[in-house]
Amino acid sequence: MIKPARLLLLFAMAAAALVSCGSAPRVSAAALPDRGLPVEARAADLLGRMTIREKVGQMTMADAVQLVRADDIARLGLGSLLFGGDDRPAVNTPEGWADAFDAWQKNALAARLPVPLLLGVDSVHGFSHAAGTTIFPHNIGLGATRDPPLVEEVGRVTAQEMAGAGARWNFSPCLAVVRNERWGRTYESFGETPELVSSMAVLVRGLQGASLVQPTSVLATAKHFVGDGGTEGGVDQGDAKLDEATLRRLYLAPYAAALALGAQSVMVSFSSWNGVKMHANGRLITEVLKGEMGFSGIVVSDWNGIEQLVGGFPEQVTAAVTAGIDVFMMPVGYERFINTLVDEVNAGRVTEARIDDAVRRILTVKFRMGLFEHPLAARRLLGQAGSTGHRDLARRAVRESIVLLKNEAGLLPLSRGVGRILVAGKNADNLGNQLGGWSISWQGGSGTPTKGTTILQGIRDAVGARSRVTFDPDGLNAGDGFDVAIAVIGETPYAEMKGDRQGGLGLDARDLGVLDRLHASGLPVVTVLVSGRPLIITDQLPDWTAALEAWLPGTEGAGVADVIFGSYAPMGKLPLSWPRSEKQVPINVGDPDYNPLFPFGYGLTYP
Ligand code: BGC
Ligand code: BGC
Repeated sequence: MIKPARLLLLFAMAAAALVSCGSAPRVSAAALPDRGLPVEARAADLLGRMTIREKVGQMTMADAVQLVRADDIARLGLGSLLFGGDDRPAVNTPEGWADAFDAWQKNALAARLPVPLLLGVDSVHGFSHAAGTTIFPHNIGLGATRDPPLVEEVGRVTAQEMAGAGARWNFSPCLAVVRNERWGRTYESFGETPELVSSMAVLVRGLQGASLVQPTSVLATAKHFVGDGGTEGGVDQGDAKLDEATLRRLYLAPYAAALALGAQSVMVSFSSWNGVKMHANGRLITEVLKGEMGFSGIVVSDWNGIEQLVGGFPEQVTAAVTAGIDVFMMPVGYERFINTLVDEVNAGRVTEARIDDAVRRILTVKFRMGLFEHPLAARRLLGQAGSTGHRDLARRAVRESIVLLKNEAGLLPLSRGVGRILVAGKNADNLGNQLGGWSISWQGGSGTPTKGTTILQGIRDAVGARSRVTFDPDGLNAGDGFDVAIAVIGETPYAEMKGDRQGGLGLDARDLGVLDRLHASGLPVVTVLVSGRPLIITDQLPDWTAALEAWLPGTEGAGVADVIFGSYAPMGKLPLSWPRSEKQVPINVGDPDYNPLFPFGYGLTYP
């Protein structure tokens, strides 16, 4: 029996052969200059063979699962595809991804010019779209580790899990410097200072490896250029109102670090700077990034980002191309984009030199990646996805990320022999809640979307044979003679757009109810906060004997138990300032009259 994917492929190849009967003759891969030549020469040769439509095709990124026709890749000569946050292949395992990707890739290679595709995906904390993979703490937790070599290793492992599935373009790292925790993308940031964020740009080197040409390396994307974490009110896609010196000092510095580490792609921010949308900001994209900073890689737009510019569609396209964007993430409107840009070039409103510059960058990166030699998924790596070794690294990242906020009378670490432990709270036994957004789905969700260890399971596995762990989510039986209570509370999943909180950074009613019952029982309470940002806890803190911030730890909840029971002493340091009250938000280190609940860099340890 022929598999549906195979049928689709046969159909696509036949259709591509038909298309290539057009004016220009088909070029075989063997006719292209080989790998003996410098990548620049190979790119120039290929560019010289392209029609204007083919060039514009290379500049176009469609959404993989929203292709209108299966053979659109070859028919339009698309240069790249993305898997959006809610996209998944028919079988959402790394192998299912590899099957889908290879079918698309073969379609791309059946075009008149056999230029391989790039598949882009938001592996922002591990290859977190595919089920069964290793999911690391979100960046805010990695920022708390203050351990760049660890973060580089996280990048390495993420790249291996992606490459097995054929996804060689990662829309990560987010190098936002978050200056307002109301922003729903706070957890995608490594922290509130440019120094801390810059130090974590080593994720780029982890993803891209010693050389991009290795099949285990993926293209890193520094995003979102620039000022995304500095918008007024912490509004997602909002406006950063600041002078140029401040923009450079706070927000541009991490890009310099990423470029120095060889980052080959940069994504433009949806946000504005002083009222001008970044997608049209030629001064920052072309003059500063590509000129002054010498960036020779690819500038990619954000999801339909150009449609937020002023004017009709042709004006939007022209403004963004002219500003210096090279690849256009046009999930659905990709054909309209190609037709429009070709028209704009023909009408002389966009120069062919600008198109050539964009395509040269794209092709050069593809040659640098060895894609022409190894276009298909590196399937020998498939077995690595979610492997024990990778999960061990994630567990280490979890325990290093934990910040000990309070530890009265040395309650922690708990003895493994402690008699009866009550575990409560909505985030104790909920993998989805500890993963946060950008996990299997775009906004994430509660429940068990993939394989992992909940914090509760980690606690159960950690205690000795004589201890008893009881899970009572709402703490209704707190009076039943326990020795200690652990409350695992905080946020539930969200991502961009939906995660902004104008007010409402306090604990929810359910958490407050649990805390009240535990406090009333008189038990010593260890509070574990699972959240993508600091929450307002000033009124509750006095009731807790000990408190830990665990951020959004990912699949390896056992790392939390490692710290609670003292296998490892806590070493995390706050990557941002912890506000006392809603009124104090935003608060950042260096502010006048700086008086947070916990300062930037705070974090206790065991004696
Ligand atoms: C986000 C980007 C992401 C892209 C693709 C956008 O909405 O802002 O961070 O890379 O979608 O999923
Ligand atoms: C996609 C995301 C994208 C978002 C932007 C979602 O439907 O899945 O990848 O970032 O839309 O609006």
